[in-house]
Amino acid sequence: MKIRHLFLLCLIAISATLSANGKTVIPITTDDISLIYKVDDKNGRLYQSYLGQKLSFDSDIVQLPLGNEAYLTHGMEDYFEPAIRVLHNDGNPSLLLKYISHENKQLQPGVDETVILLKDDKYPVEVKLHFIAYPKENIIKEYAEISHQEKKPVTLYNYASSLLHLNGSKYFLTEFAGDWAHEVNMKETELAFGKKMLDTKLGSRANMFCSPFFLLALDRKAEENAGDVLFGTIGWTGNYRFTFEVDNENGLRVLSGINPYASEYSLKPNEVFRTPEFIFTYSTEGKGKASRDFQRWARKYQLKDGEKSRMTLLNNWEATYFDFNKDNLIAIAKEAAELNLDMLVLDDGWFGSRNDDNSGLGDWKVNEEKLQGSLGDLISRINALGVKFGLWFEPEMVNEDSDLYREHPDWAIQIPGRKPVKGRNQLLLDFSRKEVVDAVYEQMCQVLDQGNIEYVKWDMNRSMAEVYSMTAEEQGSVQYDYMLGLYDFLERIISRYPDLLIEGCSGGGGRFDAGMLYYTPQIWCSDNTDAVDRVRIQYGTSFGYPVSAVGSHVSAVPNHQTGRKTSLHTRGVCAMAGTFGYELDPAKMTDEERREIREQIVEYKKYAQLVQNGLYYRLSNPFAEEIGAWEFVSEDGKEVLVNVVMLEIHGNMTVNYVKMKGLCVGQFYKDSNTGKIYPAEALMEVGIPMPLEFGEYKAYQIYLEMVE
Ligand code: GLA
Repeated sequence: MKIRHLFLLCLIAISATLSANGKTVIPITTDDISLIYKVDDKNGRLYQSYLGQKLSFDSDIVQLPLGNEAYLTHGMEDYFEPAIRVLHNDGNPSLLLKYISHENKQLQPGVDETVILLKDDKYPVEVKLHFIAYPKENIIKEYAEISHQEKKPVTLYNYASSLLHLNGSKYFLTEFAGDWAHEVNMKETELAFGKKMLDTKLGSRANMFCSPFFLLALDRKAEENAGDVLFGTIGWTGNYRFTFEVDNENGLRVLSGINPYASEYSLKPNEVFRTPEFIFTYSTEGKGKASRDFQRWARKYQLKDGEKSRMTLLNNWEATYFDFNKDNLIAIAKEAAELNLDMLVLDDGWFGSRNDDNSGLGDWKVNEEKLQGSLGDLISRINALGVKFGLWFEPEMVNEDSDLYREHPDWAIQIPGRKPVKGRNQLLLDFSRKEVVDAVYEQMCQVLDQGNIEYVKWDMNRSMAEVYSMTAEEQGSVQYDYMLGLYDFLERIISRYPDLLIEGCSGGGGRFDAGMLYYTPQIWCSDNTDAVDRVRIQYGTSFGYPVSAVGSHVSAVPNHQTGRKTSLHTRGVCAMAGTFGYELDPAKMTDEERREIREQIVEYKKYAQLVQNGLYYRLSNPFAEEIGAWEFVSEDGKEVLVNVVMLEIHGNMTVNYVKMKGLCVGQFYKDSNTGKIYPAEALMEVGIPMPLEFGEYKAYQIYLEMVE
């Protein structure tokens, strides 16, 4: 990093306090990172002096250059993309923020908050920058609160959650883009002068085309185990935008926040506009450490019950689609019981007049005719088999062919005077309106109160295109208000049903973001359950989310997406890199396959804690290598689970050695399959040779324990 080099060159032994040279210094630190702000005593403005490896000595910090203005405004002297753009109600478009004060407090043990207050000196507009640091996990969250005391509303055009400045010789951005059934592919590009944006306008499916997270490597391409890397993501389920702008001096600014596209916000006097949280870490040991730090933090602080063990499940969707009744559901539940699975999930089609995807959404009333009785009775019968019960909902949606729509057509988001644009034959309900949220919430609670429902699959199968609310005063705020409505709904559900596990879904992994994870700590990662594709999808997903959040199931072969046949063992190994389950009809399987499934579930339960809460290491890049390999290591380094899938096979193949990571140097590890004992260094430096076996897509799981 340029700044670091500069500062090392001029490092001289000084003993100074942080404010000795007249500048107020605001350090935000974790165990490994420092983000340093300084106030220029001449102009009273706030500057970001440094972001990088932790600076432990005051003398180091005092040496830092002033840097770049922290939360750049529009309409004054800056020529590049601003963090904030405001139009005052007298038509004046300028803003100049000066430092007023800052305060630090501990929010809870291990969580520190710094709030910096900035104010314009001409207009009564203020911005509070909040930084919440998690020292042990090396995570910093940042958000802004914008308010004013002008006489009439002011219009916010840009309102970033965060602006970070970086100084490298080169910048390499890794983005994660894809589409339905092939989500989260990776691409790394060098940034040159100008702007590169990663964003979405899909409304409420932040992960659909372009995932809401990035890696930014400085000086050289991102490596798994070395180099400076910034990882960032946003706790927002709506439209987001990350802007990377290289300026004329090769400085980089990274602006993160809500996508301001068609979203100008009219801010009333004294109302506080709060941006979503930008969550980031800075690693000097490559993207592997960045992911492990983020995953550890997310499990502990972001995911609801993030460290609690998860249920294995069988979902009826791929077994029956809409075609089920009580008898065949009970038959599937019996199979689940015999296989030792924890739960049966009843997917789409149990409500209203829903027997295909043209009707019924919005009518959350149990179809007792189809279920041959009440939902409560069905659940009791399933519970009596020793199987828990979960249920599918898609609360934000409505079909035109539904009682709800017939009664309240204005509750759907659509543009007046135009033919409604449908996605999967459905419209989106206007969750920016409280009465809509209340009505659907009531319906959902009435269903959830009918029996012992321990899990909900919360689906969301279309994007937001034609954004218009029939009651909004200002259309620019509809998407923001929609998100607040959605979060309010979810908040009420988790408070009323504190033990309920909600799994998010959106035509697969279309809606996978740190905001949703707060409510839905599990998210169905992709409708593509092909084991080989999943190795790549789950690899990409691992950069943005903890493994325990990844809904990952075994389905039947040939795979319904690809036609590919892989062994049950290979499908099991792949699905075990997440929250485990099955999407198939066990009745259609052979006795031999059923025996294997039983064994798989025993294996998974043995490893579940390690998979969910262990440290995740990527051992190969499945986009570039013949093998997909990943590893879980317990926090104490005593247990290790290595997983390998051969993705390619060709003649005269050379042996692939899988080099392990994160083991305790100086210790020995015993392979539980072979009983062989290896020194940690041999496993990490030489690796384990993968057998050259004939046949495609072989998978291996190696469990090792430290020899005490
Ligand atoms: C989406 C989900 C599937 C299933 C269907 C039901 O496509 O991704 O898993 O729940 O909806 O309609």
